[in-house]
Amino acid sequence: MHVHAYEKIWLALSIVLILLLLGSVTYGAVGPGIAMVSDQQDPLDPEALDEDDRFAEPRVEQVGENEYEAYVVAYQFNFDPDPIVVPANSEVTFYITSPDVIHGFEVVGTNANTMVIPGEVAEITVQANEPREYGIVCNEYCGAAHHGMEGTLEVVPEEEYEQRTAAEADDGGEDA
Ligand code: CUA
Repeated sequence: MHVHAYEKIWLALSIVLILLLLGSVTYGAVGPGIAMVSDQQDPLDPEALDEDDRFAEPRVEQVGENEYEAYVVAYQFNFDPDPIVVPANSEVTFYITSPDVIHGFEVVGTNANTMVIPGEVAEITVQANEPREYGIVCNEYCGAAHHGMEGTLEVVPEEEYEQRTAAEADDGGEDA
């Protein structure tokens, strides 16, 4: 069978394209180490968050010298805690869940952006450098007041953070 030279070139090119496509899809899935929502995660009952160690009291916790963990609940139509206060020059890992429907958690102006699914814990790590205030928005349609579902992330100077945490401890750990 005679195959025309041009046809051979196009055949070869299309095979290369297919391989590139498969390669890029594979790389996208495993290359950058992006974890998918896992089904190995401990199950979390969205209706019993008040009995969960992490989410009964949404809060920011210090876990290392400059490392913090924030446990956040996104619900119709707010974020708890609000504001989320963290010290400057720290690394903050957010753990976010929802008791009701799917929400979003986006720190405006950064690339921190995740979906928040009932029964799952979204995890996202942010470098908090300079003191400043960020808006937090929900970008998944979640009901009538979705457009008004906003929170605040306050990155405050380290001394101010210490003063605030000390003040809260004096209050018997109650939120101000
Ligand atoms: Cu929560 Cu939209």
